[in-house]
Amino acid sequence: MKYDFTTRIDRSNTGAFKYDMMPEPLKGSGIVPLTVADMEFSAPPEVNEAVAKAALHGCYGYTGPQGEYLEAVKHWQKTRHDWQVEDDWLVVTNGVVQALGVAVRAFTNEGDGVLIMTPVYHPFYDAIRDNGRRIVESPLAETEHGYEIDFEDLERKAADPSVRLMLLCSPHNPIGRVWSREELARIAAIASENEFPVVSDEIHNDLILPGGTHTVFASLPEAAGNCIVCTAVSKTFNLAGLSCSNIFVPDPALREKFSFEAHKSGCGCVPYPARPATIAAYTKGAEWLDELLSVVDGNFRLMYSFIDERIPELRVTHAQGTYLAWIDMRALGMDHDELNAFLVNEARICDSDGTMFGSAGNGFRRWNLALPREILEENLIKLEKAIKTLNK
Ligand SMILES: Cc1ncc(COP(=O)(O)O)c(C=O)c1O
Repeated sequence: MKYDFTTRIDRSNTGAFKYDMMPEPLKGSGIVPLTVADMEFSAPPEVNEAVAKAALHGCYGYTGPQGEYLEAVKHWQKTRHDWQVEDDWLVVTNGVVQALGVAVRAFTNEGDGVLIMTPVYHPFYDAIRDNGRRIVESPLAETEHGYEIDFEDLERKAADPSVRLMLLCSPHNPIGRVWSREELARIAAIASENEFPVVSDEIHNDLILPGGTHTVFASLPEAAGNCIVCTAVSKTFNLAGLSCSNIFVPDPALREKFSFEAHKSGCGCVPYPARPATIAAYTKGAEWLDELLSVVDGNFRLMYSFIDERIPELRVTHAQGTYLAWIDMRALGMDHDELNAFLVNEARICDSDGTMFGSAGNGFRRWNLALPREILEENLIKLEKAIKTLNK
């Protein structure tokens, strides 16, 4: 390996949400949380150097996406996703979550329904509810092969005339599905039949595990004129704190509406350090990303074999993308509060409660596997030991 994916990084006293929001009994104990979706790895050194150079330049003025930034973004989409982006499609926002709220306000009115497939990343619910719109859930079907879209249900919900927008998570957090071209084409057809656009949140687009292929929603001819694609360097290169995302809106009429609402919300700047970071990541970061993906894949494999062999009462969904593992702990027979208390007090593990992602997440936990393998092993061993004491 050319890059370092083994060193433990001390993130205490950096204001990291992941650490400061730990439950009291675990806070300050040296335990590494498995919660918030950022990584326990340093960003690529090429990115760190570019940001340090910009810091030393010292003139932290207002900066935008023009020139080298736009070229780097287009280069990445073309080389990594075989997707040709036109210059005027790009609208920058200060995060994908911000873009979700902008889209909800741009394309719907108060009281309208917004369709989501659940369980899903919790700010999807917030973006709808906090803007006075109505959440319309189409639950994903749990099958023996993992999660599938229940197209019958999706079609029925989409046909409700009050549904005016769909928020799609592609790849899907927390269940790790990378949607196939066929699945995406069916979603595109349902949206156009019912005359509402689709916001495709593709923030995990680069985190595709071996064997998988990510399809950009807007690369489908049937979807291109009816969607917004949200991307960022944040998940891919561990740069979430730079608050910068690249939103593509190929259709001019949708773009006008989206840009107007984004402008009203104060979007437009690329934060000063995000500009050199994005340029470096998208022009020099491919090798780092390939190594990261092999590390994350190795972590998933370790988790699958450990759980199969040593904690067979649990089930892990086999992820095709993201660095997030979705673990079914329902067989432990605990209710929601008992499971939380057991994990914190007995296992001393800080992970994400599945109900954050909707009621279908009851009995499930989400673990962030973007961390040194040794830390994952420690957590698996702690979990095994705590479960063994239950069986005594
Ligand atoms: C699906 C999804 N969208 C958006 C975000 C966060 O986006 P941002 O930090 O750009 O607001 C996350 C972070 O976990 C995510 O999983």
